[in-house]
Amino acid sequence: MPAPVTLRTLQNRYEKQEPITVITAYDATFARLVDEVGIDAILVGDSLGNVIQGFRTTIPVTLDEMVYHTAAVVRATRRAHVIADMPFGSYGASVEDSVRSAARLLKEAGAHAVKLEGGAAFVPDIRRMVDIGIPVMGHLGLTPQSVHKLGGYSVQGRGDAGPQLLQDALALQEAGVYAIVLEMVPADLAIEVTQALRIPTIGIGAGNGTSGQVLVGYDMLGLNDGFSPKFLKRYANLADTVREATATYISEVGDRSFPGPEHSFKR
Ligand code: KIV
Repeated sequence: MPAPVTLRTLQNRYEKQEPITVITAYDATFARLVDEVGIDAILVGDSLGNVIQGFRTTIPVTLDEMVYHTAAVVRATRRAHVIADMPFGSYGASVEDSVRSAARLLKEAGAHAVKLEGGAAFVPDIRRMVDIGIPVMGHLGLTPQSVHKLGGYSVQGRGDAGPQLLQDALALQEAGVYAIVLEMVPADLAIEVTQALRIPTIGIGAGNGTSGQVLVGYDMLGLNDGFSPKFLKRYANLADTVREATATYISEVGDRSFPGPEHSFKR
């Protein structure tokens, strides 16, 4: 059994300036595969609202759904650190509400940590979670749960918004988060924030100056081929693989070449 990745492991990697690798997964099969090849952390992102459930935003995702998917990922993971996203509405109404939601993700699903979106406004919630033993990852820049407030999925932190983002990052660090996701922020701002902190930053669309990177698994593997943001690199083209394999299956069942003798039982 490989040694599990813990908060200490991640902090050590950060201190040695070794990039931290994170990918999203939502089910046991995916989690097992990415865990086997040595990913540091698996984020059960509320992006499951987009890539699994087919919603246009992450807003409809529920806490029950996050518990369900996180539990599947945890069951298949041997080494990686597993972070569960707190979905929209499961935190922020009150500190008590936030803590109870986060506790479900650790207690019922087995997550090692939770992630929530937002800045200084969430300091009391984060402090309380950290105080009772729940590791919290922050998320700044493009925070998709606020899509209606932000007016779309555009780059954040440009111009006057840069200093505010830095202040939010410092406030989250002070509250006790162990890492912060920086999504869709200018590369130079991501470097400035990373240099101002003593905890890792994990970038997505934030250049290569962060302490680590995260990508949505379905996007990175080219399954979600209608989604092509500038920052995305596709490391495979699984959408075509799925189409081609399924078309071959349809054709072979149609002409009865599948199942052949090698896939059939004898009496
Ligand atoms: O939900 C998610 O997948 C995320 C990542 C994009 C960071 O929050």
